[in-house]
Amino acid sequence: MKISERQSVHGQWSSRWTFIMAATGAAVGLGNIWKFPYLTGQNGGSAFVLVYIVCVAALGIPLMMAEILLGRRGRSTPIRTMQVLAEETNTTQWWQIIGWSGTLAGMLILSYYSVIGGWTLAYIFKSIGGTFNGASGQFAADTFSAFTGSGTILFIWHTVFMVLTMGVVAGGVQGGLEKAVQFLMPTLFILLVLMVGYSMTTGFFGKGLAFLFTPDFSKLTGASMLSAMGQAFFSLSLGMGTIMIYGSYVPRDTSIASTSVAIALADTGVALLAGMAIFPIVFANNLEPGSGPGLIFQTLPVAFGNMTGGQAFGSLFFILLLIAAWTSSISLIEPLVTWLIETYGMTRIKASLYSGIFTWLLGLGTVWSFNRWAELTFLGLTFFDLLDFVTSNLMLPLGGILIALFVGWLMRADSTKAELNIHNPAIYAAWQALVRYIAPVAVFIVLLNAIGLL
Ligand code: PHE
Repeated sequence: MKISERQSVHGQWSSRWTFIMAATGAAVGLGNIWKFPYLTGQNGGSAFVLVYIVCVAALGIPLMMAEILLGRRGRSTPIRTMQVLAEETNTTQWWQIIGWSGTLAGMLILSYYSVIGGWTLAYIFKSIGGTFNGASGQFAADTFSAFTGSGTILFIWHTVFMVLTMGVVAGGVQGGLEKAVQFLMPTLFILLVLMVGYSMTTGFFGKGLAFLFTPDFSKLTGASMLSAMGQAFFSLSLGMGTIMIYGSYVPRDTSIASTSVAIALADTGVALLAGMAIFPIVFANNLEPGSGPGLIFQTLPVAFGNMTGGQAFGSLFFILLLIAAWTSSISLIEPLVTWLIETYGMTRIKASLYSGIFTWLLGLGTVWSFNRWAELTFLGLTFFDLLDFVTSNLMLPLGGILIALFVGWLMRADSTKAELNIHNPAIYAAWQALVRYIAPVAVFIVLLNAIGLL
């Protein structure tokens, strides 16, 4: 069969626009609104933000192009795509490791992502019920620690979130995913802009901006650079096959380069807006920027509790955050589900059920790492921290290196040229240099630097 006739058996996006919306839906999620601010706070602010932005531009965009290209050429699950493309390139089947590690990483990430998605769900109900009306910073912090202190409550919300996720996944590409992403992303964006507007009234907007954007390189350590790079991969959903599998549903006439730039801009824009909304509130209420995963759940309720219309506004915000988390979570498990379908001939429903149950079970480790197992640490990290570290900071960047090497060195230039369809030779050459040299070397240096070998 000619490559131009290859199609994924799992589906096809109905247009370039649906692909952009779906890929942006996968990229924009808890990573932008929950994780980016708390990592920024923990890593001292602006220097972290700067490294993050450089990583998005220099590694993120070229690697996203590489991943979409692989997906669209292979038209299958990440594992099978790598198998087909390794054959096509006459190279060893070991490259399938990209697919295997990505599929595993997606499941590992979803196991804790679902727990945080559950927090979001719970906060919708707290907001609707008026819990935060007139809340002080102390009250929001106490509410949060009482909430995460209960293993049973987190267990219930984690379960509900998993059921929501697997419900959409079982519906398939056309039925489930497309419908979920159409209107909600733009609404979330507008709401964030309004939140930034509120932060301007706190009197601490300038301090928030300075914290985010005045580089202070004394704060930059090997560990914080690794964390910024890991966050770039996590936030753009790179290095683990999600973008590859979404790429496998992309129509042939879609421009990979401009689509990648659009997705990266939207993703980074949302993260920066979230930072600009949150830090002024942190400073205005004497909260601790480095307080960790609870940061947005301790800051935003204070804002909602003290603004006019805050109850409605806050409820809407958490609903939209839930949807952003939802569209990301379905993409995390898509590689595993389609692999089960392809390999064992399962129905989508059965494959979703098995993947869901397994991931849910693993998620219990994260549920308890905030209460029952909080003291149980390995190298100073709780179960949740460890999972997050291994996936975001190791598996995704290493997956990225392999993807860059495969696309840059092994695939023939005429294949990558044909997929990317870039007419300007200078742009193609720049992309090629980025995936051949810059991306693998940079990721490698950051990793070595973080473990203290440089
Ligand atoms: N990018 C998503 C977020 O920022 C998380 C994600 C990572 C989704 C990897 C898919 C793959 O929330």
